[in-house]
Amino acid sequence: MGNSSFWLSILTSAVLVAIASCATNDTGNSWMGANLYYLQGLSDGDQNAYIDAMAEDGAKVVRLWVNRQTAGDCQKGSLIASTVPPLETALGVYNNATLDALDKVIVKLYAKGMKALISPHDANSLLGDYRADVYFDKWGSAGFYQDQAAFEAYDARLSYILNYNGASSGKVWKEWSEAIMGFDLQNEPFTANTSACTNNDAHDWACGRATHLRTELGKDNPLIVASGGLGGDYSHGCTFMARAVGCAALDAVAVHRYASVPGQWDASAAGWADQAGGKLVFVEEWGIDAARYNQTAAFPAEAASFNEVGLPAFYWQFLLPSVAQCPYTAAGDAGDHFGIVYDSGVDLARGMRQARESEALQDWRSII
Ligand SMILES: *[C@@H]1O[C@H](CO)[C@@H](O)[C@H](O)[C@H]1NC(C)=O
Ligand SMILES: *[C@@H]1O[C@H](CO)[C@@H](O)[C@H](O)[C@H]1NC(C)=O
Ligand SMILES: *[C@@H]1O[C@H](CO)[C@@H](O)[C@H](O)[C@H]1NC(C)=O
Ligand SMILES: *[C@@H]1O[C@H](CO)[C@@H](O)[C@H](O)[C@H]1NC(C)=O
Repeated sequence: MGNSSFWLSILTSAVLVAIASCATNDTGNSWMGANLYYLQGLSDGDQNAYIDAMAEDGAKVVRLWVNRQTAGDCQKGSLIASTVPPLETALGVYNNATLDALDKVIVKLYAKGMKALISPHDANSLLGDYRADVYFDKWGSAGFYQDQAAFEAYDARLSYILNYNGASSGKVWKEWSEAIMGFDLQNEPFTANTSACTNNDAHDWACGRATHLRTELGKDNPLIVASGGLGGDYSHGCTFMARAVGCAALDAVAVHRYASVPGQWDASAAGWADQAGGKLVFVEEWGIDAARYNQTAAFPAEAASFNEVGLPAFYWQFLLPSVAQCPYTAAGDAGDHFGIVYDSGVDLARGMRQARESEALQDWRSII
């Protein structure tokens, strides 16, 4: 052909592109998500409205909980339409209806291009209040984290959930990575009494459960094992517990942090990634206190702080508009001031969509 300078310039461009991609770390983009612990108890219409709004606003993941729901209850301004039994009414006796209700919701999320992150149990069930369950009845808050028989009973629950075959999806959950991002060890392990985690989990509950989950998932399964917010809020000092960070089976450290405004997420992220020692880090719960701050002004600013450094985050919580039977404002809630009604004029979409265009701090591409 003879046009050697043409071919030389093509070659030079290719080399420059190769050099450029070596010089920067290509980590893909960040993401955001939402918590809603009662989504499976809502009416079909409410579920659809919520899921459509989240998809529209740019959420990539919704965090779901294996828990019970009671028809007629009010939750954060929404009316619970379906009773969902606890997964275990007796230890080791499982109600599929609990998981069937979640499976139906996961099918809907998947249809809108979103995934689920699943908390298989709530440590608040060990507080002995209205949430108490069969684990509290048998072991109380302390025994759950130190008694080998409790570990075995809980591991059996985890196995049941992972191997559950969806009534709507027809998928075995642990094999459904297109729709499920992963599993927490529990929601907020150790929160009923943090002395076990501030003393570095002498009975190795966290790593033991992570190892059980990973063994059940299989080594190459893309579903992740996440910590679920060790000790509850970050201020309790357990989030990066050494025995968890040093545990090969744990894939991701979930930060729960309600430090509110300004959260200075951008300033914290690199240090958290260092503390995680090669594991993924994400914020699994954060919220803006409606009684103290203007959520309309604060949400975009906080989201920008996450996106500045590519730290992924799930808000606690985006809510449906309240219904007449269930009057509700976040500022008036007795213990949870963080809810934001999705169509209340707070611009959720800008921050959540911006996350999808922001370079991620760590690489989530094989997971999200
Ligand atoms: C790229 O990643 C390596 C290893 O994780 C790290 O040491 C390095 O600082 C990163 N470089 C940039 C530009 O982020
Ligand atoms: C519960 O679901 C599992 C599949 O995950 C199935 O094998 C089992 O038969 C179901 N149990 C009942 C009582 O329907
Ligand atoms: C918390 O657990 C520690 C031992 O792990 C125990 O000494 C302490 O009494 C417990 N606190 C409460 C409030 O139960
Ligand atoms: C809250 O912030 C928004 C956006 O900055 C502003 O338009 C609104 O007036 C503020 N509301 C109050 C009560 O200050």
